[in-house]
Amino acid sequence: MTSEPIIYEGKAKIMKIIGDIAEMTFKDSLTAFNGKKRSSFDGKGAINAEISYILFKLLEKHGVNTHLLSRKDEKTLVVKKLEMIPLEVVVRNYVAGSLRRRVLLEEKSKLPFPIVELYYKNDELGDPMINSYHARLYGISEDTISEIEDKALRVNEILTKALESVGIILADFKLEFGYYKDGKIILGDEISPDTCRFWDKETMRSLDKDVFRFDLGDVRKAYLEALERIRNVKI
Ligand code: TMP
Ligand code: ASP
Repeated sequence: MTSEPIIYEGKAKIMKIIGDIAEMTFKDSLTAFNGKKRSSFDGKGAINAEISYILFKLLEKHGVNTHLLSRKDEKTLVVKKLEMIPLEVVVRNYVAGSLRRRVLLEEKSKLPFPIVELYYKNDELGDPMINSYHARLYGISEDTISEIEDKALRVNEILTKALESVGIILADFKLEFGYYKDGKIILGDEISPDTCRFWDKETMRSLDKDVFRFDLGDVRKAYLEALERIRNVKI
């Protein structure tokens, strides 16, 4: 007897949970600025599913535990069901986006070391940046935070090197983690042009959602270019 699936629909994905596993279907819709700006394009879900699949497999190969199990169809990844930790973990290598409001450094300049930031996932508060003291209010211990930060920095090392080999600078990105049934913390969610800033190494051109956020050109072309390069990452 299998129980009825539980379905959650978010802005960019649909999660269908069936027992211990989940099917994560990537949508063609595109949103920015907390859903205030909306669009979509054909094939966007499939591009993000494939990029996430390739990058999760790469991370697994380098010893990072992720929720990935398999790719079911163009737009759908089969993943382990996790109990998600309500944090967005951002790692930054270059100055871009909201970091410009916190530091007096030139846009697109390289940081002397990677910066990790934590945001509390909460629509009512608008996902505010928090520190490990605030996280304790939500039952997330300091040990958990330090484990998550270590994992995020390891992911940064692996992805930075792999993307560099296909001419992409990984300027920054966002990760989400969760607990698997055995209590281990593993990497969940997605890694895609929606959740990363990918820049062409030669021109610093964006190959990610900034093209949509700031009307920088043809967003579909930018996502496709990111995918075509990432397909050549050696794994
Ligand atoms: P930010 O500069 O707007 O804070 O974004 C940092 C990185 O996190 C960037 O690569 C985009 C990603 N991100 C998400 O994946 N989801 C979000 O809701 C936000 C605000 C950023
Ligand atoms: N992902 C958020 C949204 O859909 C914010 C962003 O990425 O800019 O609104």
